[in-house]
Amino acid sequence: LNNGLALTPQMGWNSWNFFACSISEDLIKETANALVSTGLADLGYVYVNIDDCWSAATRNLKGQLVPDPKTFPSGIKALSDYVHGKGLKLGIYGDAGAFTCQVRPGSLFHETGDAQLFADWGVDYLKYDNCFNLGIDPKERYPPMRDALNATGRTIFYSICEWGVEDPALWARGVGNSWRTTDDINDTWASMTTIADINDKWASHAGPGGWNGKNVFFSHRGVKILVQSCDPDMLEVGNGGMTYREYRAHFSIWALMKKPILHSWFLVNCCFHELALPSFDTNVLTATHLEFWLSPYLLFNLLCPMRILFISLLLRTLISTDHICISATLCPFESFSWLKILLLMVQAPLLIGCDVRNMTAETLEILSNKEVISVNQDSLGVQGRKVYVSGEANCLQIWAGPLSGNRLVVAFWNRCSKAATITARWEVLGLESSTLVSIRDLWQHKEVKENAVASFGAKVDSHDCHVYIFTPKTVVHSES
Ligand code: DGJ
Repeated sequence: LNNGLALTPQMGWNSWNFFACSISEDLIKETANALVSTGLADLGYVYVNIDDCWSAATRNLKGQLVPDPKTFPSGIKALSDYVHGKGLKLGIYGDAGAFTCQVRPGSLFHETGDAQLFADWGVDYLKYDNCFNLGIDPKERYPPMRDALNATGRTIFYSICEWGVEDPALWARGVGNSWRTTDDINDTWASMTTIADINDKWASHAGPGGWNGKNVFFSHRGVKILVQSCDPDMLEVGNGGMTYREYRAHFSIWALMKKPILHSWFLVNCCFHELALPSFDTNVLTATHLEFWLSPYLLFNLLCPMRILFISLLLRTLISTDHICISATLCPFESFSWLKILLLMVQAPLLIGCDVRNMTAETLEILSNKEVISVNQDSLGVQGRKVYVSGEANCLQIWAGPLSGNRLVVAFWNRCSKAATITARWEVLGLESSTLVSIRDLWQHKEVKENAVASFGAKVDSHDCHVYIFTPKTVVHSES
């Protein structure tokens, strides 16, 4: 696919969670207008995604998909022109099966024609569902649409909606820009918390399921960066089934569920061999780890000391900086040697799932929290995972991960039925206990502690979630 998308998690809106099949071109236009007038578009919510039910029940005589003439009488091209005119992007929905889940025509075995139609209509995003799949392996059904989209020449975000049943976290990296890790979310606390936990499991297990040379990646200063999404489904914020605090927690956890994994892969022409390295959780990544895994390779290539020196310097640079702007240089003695460094990013999209034309002030406040959005869109990629649990049934939780600029995001999530104090000790966060840390609360929008040392605690209401940025300042070393 190599389409350069998903550098940061996709942001936008999708029709399904609130409207299901009650959609029309007027709704899509009004939603685009509302995204602009509420300021959400300026915050990055740019995809306006039509879900199931946009198409007529049958294909036309040429075998093409047709928009439902009652609800989308002007056609999708006119709609995409309208949406593009607002500075936004249009998403559409299809199915890797005989029918969509709501029994509209599916795209299985029609990939080339359907992808071309989407491209001709000016579509920017395809959500590709998994219903009526005839029992065919998803690894056979999803790549043809990737190839068909690629062949159109239009850059289209490819969102694999395989519901996590065939463990797409293990194979979909090479196929789409994002893949669903879970079944459908619904507008309840139980569903939201379950889905957060399932996605967290995938974040911690996600590793390269096999590099096949067709992964979705982009090249940044010579370094290949593979960026894809583990998609825990769209947001339910604002749909009425949860409280303000629960929605705040939902938004906070979706924003920080993002995890970078470093994976390196080398192809060296002089030896005619490939070496695939295991993935590294950046949490535990050190130069020693990399050199350990590389040692057989380095021994094998003793004849090229320049390369060994280069690789070693490069790896040290890579892991000592929080960015990945490293220029790959070729070993001067081998014209075709090359090196790839891949940074896999496992990310949660922020796709609004409510009626943005009629949001309450509270819903808008949650969805437009710039500081929480910037955690989700951070250039480093947030390793947002559960790092500490306590309390009955582990209901007091700390989720945390690194941000660019040597900062950390730390969320205190109280899933218990009563208010409680949650305390983060520096060791849980990977900080030395003497580190001075300034702490900013992203929901209160203020600094709450200037020079915290060793630990920080706060009282969190039941089902609420505090999100902090921890900025470590100095490490105070003891004299003794
Ligand atoms: C199943 C998907 O998981 C949902 O998000 C939605 O797209 C429906 N199908 C539409 O039928």
